[in-house]
Amino acid sequence: MTSSAPHLFLIALDAIPDGGFAEVEAAIDGDAESLLLYREGGQVRAWFNVCPHAGRRLDWSPGQFLKTKDGLLVCAAHGATFELGRGECVAGPCRGEALRSVAVEVRDGEVLVEPSP
Ligand code: FES
Repeated sequence: MTSSAPHLFLIALDAIPDGGFAEVEAAIDGDAESLLLYREGGQVRAWFNVCPHAGRRLDWSPGQFLKTKDGLLVCAAHGATFELGRGECVAGPCRGEALRSVAVEVRDGEVLVEPSP
């Protein structure tokens, strides 16, 4: 028997374009946070929508994220560039830093966030 809280629904997998992004608001540790979701086939990775450079949102308009032809995410504020495996900044003003990841899982076509510990 498990006592963990149920996972919270964030978004339907199909609502995120394959190879694309979505932005959702979720209560993390009791605070409403903007999250960046990135889909690759049936996999979704999530990070806080907060750039490690100056703390700005990464999207230029809610849910509108910039992606290069090489598959890198570019912060709309000052151009920090992130790879989408681990969210590490590979170019720009915060090179070497990384986005803060959020544990999510895909189950039955739904993207769920794990409850806070
Ligand atoms: S806040 Fe993202 S590059 Fe400056």
